[in-house]
Amino acid sequence: MTFHKFGRREFLKKAAGGGMLAGAGLAFPRFAMAQGAKIKVGLMLPYTGTYAPLGVAIENGFRLALQESGGKLGGREVEFFKVDDESEPAKATDNVNRLVTRDKVDVVIGTVHSGVCAAMIRVTRETGVLHMIPNAGLSQATGSLCAPNIIRTSFSNWQPGYGMGIALSQRKNVKNVATIAWRYAAGEESVKGFKDGYLRGGGKIAKELWIPFPNVEFQALLTEIASLRPDATYAFFAGGGAAKFLKDYAQAGLNKTIPLVGPGFLTDGILEAVGGAAQGVETALHYADDLSFKRDKEFRLAYVKAFKLQPDVYAVAGYDTGLLLAAGLKAVNGEVAQKKELIAAMEKVTVDSPRGKWRLSKAHNPIQDMYLRKVVGIDNKYEGVAVKALDDDPSAMGQCRMG
Ligand code: PHB
Repeated sequence: MTFHKFGRREFLKKAAGGGMLAGAGLAFPRFAMAQGAKIKVGLMLPYTGTYAPLGVAIENGFRLALQESGGKLGGREVEFFKVDDESEPAKATDNVNRLVTRDKVDVVIGTVHSGVCAAMIRVTRETGVLHMIPNAGLSQATGSLCAPNIIRTSFSNWQPGYGMGIALSQRKNVKNVATIAWRYAAGEESVKGFKDGYLRGGGKIAKELWIPFPNVEFQALLTEIASLRPDATYAFFAGGGAAKFLKDYAQAGLNKTIPLVGPGFLTDGILEAVGGAAQGVETALHYADDLSFKRDKEFRLAYVKAFKLQPDVYAVAGYDTGLLLAAGLKAVNGEVAQKKELIAAMEKVTVDSPRGKWRLSKAHNPIQDMYLRKVVGIDNKYEGVAVKALDDDPSAMGQCRMG
């Protein structure tokens, strides 16, 4: 059986079926195979519920990176498969299986909610499909459940919490802080990060207050904060829930007496929706609305032009996921099946991100600066670096057996 007996398409079909590739390898350039099929990208994100705007921003950011690489990844066209995960852990296994088993995607991108992400990881670890996490900060993803095929382009929940904790630990007048958060992995890990940073300064935690996700009935807890009278409140909420919390905190008059702080998710992407309620709120995050990088200014202009929306940290996360995937696939000429080489290539990339340059740790979590920000008008204004080149929670890193 020789090459000239087949038309190009027929040859590709037979070669892909197996048996021919070893012999044909020399006569048939590798890139020809790669250019044949589309790369199948599965997006598993929230498109409904309190985190819906986050899912949309992540998808937009990814599409912008794709557009900037000529609409292709590693020289190949891209086909999207989408699932709305509703931030609903109970539906997560079925949802991810739709993409992995039914649609047979080459890469799964998802998700926002840590509980949903935990269920995704059980499937992606088992099947070995490339899994890129553009938001969920779940500690286990780059800790006890880390794996070569799991790559996080965002943050661990511990990182911004720790950054804010370190910033407050240096303030002499903040001795006693109350925390309030949604009770699930993200809230718990965020509060842990905050305590790991803040308690180093000798301060105390007045009380830890919790509310189930995605509940937004904050009244009783706000009354409790008022009676505790802490020097500050640290809060983890995001998306629609964060907007409601900021409004309720201001409505109760607490913004005048008890400074509110948090990880940057508390104020990102929602400042237009909350009117003046968030003025002065300080947060720590790996992004801010007025960074001085040329790269960021270009990104913000391009994003506004493409989507008629202001970008936020979630848009950056989607964008960086696209940048990293594009760089990896370029290095392997679009051969997405060469997973080991693809992952090794991504591990070497320094992502030239709007947030500043960053790289993956050995556990596949970004090592990045945590900025201190303050809400002024509708911007999260940069105030300085809270912690430089921050890696993950040492106790989580100690549980990852990679690297
Ligand atoms: C999470 O569940 O890990 C999570 C969700 C929304 C955020 C940040 C973290 O803004």
